[in-house]
Amino acid sequence: MDNNQYLMISAYGSYFAEIPHYFVTAPGRVNLIGEHTDYNDGFVLPIAIDRRTYATARPMYGDLVKAKSVGFDDMEEFHIREKLTKRDRWVDYLMGVIEEMKKDSYSLNGFWVLLRSDVPIGSGLSSSAALEVASGLLIASLFEHDIDRLELAKIARRAEQNFVGVNCGIMDQMATLLCTEDHALFIDCRDQSYKQVPVAFKDAGFVVVDTKVKRELDNSAYNERRAQCEAAVAAVAKKKKGVTALRDAETADLDKIAGDVDDVIIKRARHIISENDRVQKAVQMLEKKDACGFGALMYESHESLQHDYQVSCDELDRVVDIARETDGVMGARMTGGGFGGCAVALVKQGAEKLFAEKIAAAFTPEQPDDENADEKKQEEGPALPEVFSVKPVGGATVQKLDIKS
Ligand code: GLA
Repeated sequence: MDNNQYLMISAYGSYFAEIPHYFVTAPGRVNLIGEHTDYNDGFVLPIAIDRRTYATARPMYGDLVKAKSVGFDDMEEFHIREKLTKRDRWVDYLMGVIEEMKKDSYSLNGFWVLLRSDVPIGSGLSSSAALEVASGLLIASLFEHDIDRLELAKIARRAEQNFVGVNCGIMDQMATLLCTEDHALFIDCRDQSYKQVPVAFKDAGFVVVDTKVKRELDNSAYNERRAQCEAAVAAVAKKKKGVTALRDAETADLDKIAGDVDDVIIKRARHIISENDRVQKAVQMLEKKDACGFGALMYESHESLQHDYQVSCDELDRVVDIARETDGVMGARMTGGGFGGCAVALVKQGAEKLFAEKIAAAFTPEQPDDENADEKKQEEGPALPEVFSVKPVGGATVQKLDIKS
């Protein structure tokens, strides 16, 4: 039994005075390249990372669910057979999964669950998908429903769309469930087919920079981007047969709609079309173990997200600028939905420390030179970015526990 499991089981005993029957984990993810392409029927290339949501539970008689998340004060309670409504709290992800499972006629009963997560929240590392997937996997195990992983990813995504209200693509939920150790997951989001691509660069690995800038307004901006992509599709479809998503369009098609739509629509579409192309090239670079080529595509992706799709922010741009100026950093880009959160960089072994130091220096606020400096710093200082190396890990796990009281 590993330490996380041990701690969760002991904590379960203190909160519920019971022994749990199942233990599940679901990782966060870093998308290496292919941003905002998933809801355009395009391509993405995420890895799962070793930051996880842990959940442990046992079924109970009746239909009462008690749910506790370590780090959040309240014990949430609800009756599983009643129609659940949003509470604007973390438990929405659990309730959303339950509502979607009910739609699919899975029989469910009461249970008591303890959750904990070390995936940073709102950082573009898929903390919400990890929570949805951990919930779904746990519930499926508790009530002995054998749900295929791709099917579960779809349930989790519907929870996010229908209950939580974010009209997301399928990338995060698939990554959390289907990634394997030492591989990136190349997904064709049109038909949800996927392929495992080994990540085996010689002497180079991925580093995440969490700017700690919390994503705000991202929901409305995310939905606005989706609407802009749909406007582009509608315009291209009038000129070219068989276009049902930006996946089907080429850059040359955008010249044909130049006078018909606003320039901003053209820019959004140009990002999606060029990004799809970059993802396919990135897979070839991974297969050839060409870290330089892969890194160059990451920089191009960031440029496109910064200027055409306009979902970056000053801090993310600064991180990428520092990456460009640091020996041994081969590529960098923002990752996830954007407007804050994380960047991912491809860094030569041994250069991680220099990169982290340069970031810390660039983000450390100027010291005020009056005598109350320390107090002021504590009051005002924004959180400094966190820099950490990531390796591709395997997707969600489930384990039946056999603990004797
Ligand atoms: C969020 C969404 C994903 C995807 C990314 C952007 O993480 O949940 O579906 O659209 O943004 O690539």
